[in-house]
Amino acid sequence: MKHSSHEEIAILDFGSQYTQLIARKTRENKVYSRILPFNEPLGDASRVKGIILSGGPASVYQEGAPIVSKNIFELGIPVLGICYGMQLMGLLLNGKITPSDKREYGRAELFIDRPSSLLEGVESGKVAWMSHGDRIDKLPPGFQSVAHTSNSPVAVMENAEKRLYGLQFHPEVTHSEQGGRILQNFLFRICGCGGDWTLGSFAEETIRGLRERIGDKKVICGLSGGVDSSVAAVLVSKAVGDQLISVFVDNGLLRKGEAEKVVQVFGGAGMKLNLRRVDASRRLLEKLKGVEDPEKKRKIIGHEFIAVFEEEAEKLGDIEFLAQGTLYPDVIESVSFKGPSATIKTHHNVGGLPERMKFKLVEPLRELFKDEVRELGRELGIPQDILMRQPFPGPGLAVRVLGRVTEERLAILREADAILLEEIKRAGLYHEIWQCFAVLLPVKTVGVMGDERTYENVVGIRAVNSRDGMTADWVKLPYDLLALLSNRIINEVKGVNRVVYDISSKPPATIEWE
Ligand code: XMP
Repeated sequence: MKHSSHEEIAILDFGSQYTQLIARKTRENKVYSRILPFNEPLGDASRVKGIILSGGPASVYQEGAPIVSKNIFELGIPVLGICYGMQLMGLLLNGKITPSDKREYGRAELFIDRPSSLLEGVESGKVAWMSHGDRIDKLPPGFQSVAHTSNSPVAVMENAEKRLYGLQFHPEVTHSEQGGRILQNFLFRICGCGGDWTLGSFAEETIRGLRERIGDKKVICGLSGGVDSSVAAVLVSKAVGDQLISVFVDNGLLRKGEAEKVVQVFGGAGMKLNLRRVDASRRLLEKLKGVEDPEKKRKIIGHEFIAVFEEEAEKLGDIEFLAQGTLYPDVIESVSFKGPSATIKTHHNVGGLPERMKFKLVEPLRELFKDEVRELGRELGIPQDILMRQPFPGPGLAVRVLGRVTEERLAILREADAILLEEIKRAGLYHEIWQCFAVLLPVKTVGVMGDERTYENVVGIRAVNSRDGMTADWVKLPYDLLALLSNRIINEVKGVNRVVYDISSKPPATIEWE
């Protein structure tokens, strides 16, 4: 997508774990920022108001260390080097960097020695967060040191005339007490940014760009009802209306009332998508018959989704584009200098669709972070309960009905899960929890109801908190709430006589049971 009218900060990535944070922080200041691999050209430099060189795990003297061209300091664009970025600046501009055998990690107090635009309004003696090995031993010509810590005589350096700055610490992490202020000084005082980037303007520009690119061609998208695909679909439909056909594949593995809700919200008067609901539930159940292995279930479901989607596309004929809700973190992961890292995201891809079907891709969210997508969705009028949904796995209830999946067992789980969600919401906890759900165990246990012995199913309750799904801890739900859940589920869901609570963290357990 083009941002032709926007000023932008280019962040060159040298592989720091914090690079995305730098981008986040600049955007929080309403300045658009873009992360580029360190060796990629800047693109349209006229838009670039400033360059930030990220930190990185390498040492500038290491063989194969990532290096940029010296020209970057001659463009007349302000540059801020952070940690590795500072050392690289020092090295390329003929300073001296000393590899130290002792790395400096964590907190240090930053003492300001001279006034500097970069440190305007910053108090001396506050915490700065360090994570580095090398340090500046001799400043490059034209530079002066403006602040130090007990371990780093040059913690901040500048060549004010050329507007080149270096920070030995990480201003982007929250532990650096005045890091936010320092970044703001760089953006506004030094680069002269206006700070007028908003998601509203992003939406307008994106819609304009989409119209231009798509013209009168047709676009297809898979709408799951999740946040990313919903926002992507609504945005594209704002641009090209009914030329976008949103295909909602109801695989029969959704929660109670979910399929109806998707159709009502997106097909109805509110969002007015050109929505096609395809009921694939029979077909899926048939394929899943007798299958117990979770990975097999996943494969079957993924495969059938693609098959159904292809059939629909075929029926519609001459479709040129496929719209997808790819987000910025997925994009960065694939371009990063470190190379893609293995994460949970592999299961989120609708594997192989574009390659197989020769679609051109439309990815209107590929520059946004998740919370920006939510905010954009809000601007586009998508209801809050869709935008703030907890994550839900693509294979749906098939991995929560443990073992064999049957219509009957799905129905039991749906009822139990609906009670769970209703009570969690009533208790005001839904948004406090990363994910909560019920699972149906593949065992029966003995119980007694009235005077009769029962031999029925067990429902497990799972509630976890997590930041990214990679690690998680179980939530200490109040006992009263657990008691209420157990009572309601056993009394109201036919076929259940026992409820258990899952108290395992991830690792070693996973969030889902299958
Ligand atoms: P686990 O169970 O691996 O789950 O700890 C981590 C996160 O990923 C979700 N998940 C999936 N999402 N397809 C998906 O789209 C899948 O096959 C899948 N398996 C797990 C899970 O709900 C949690 O948020």
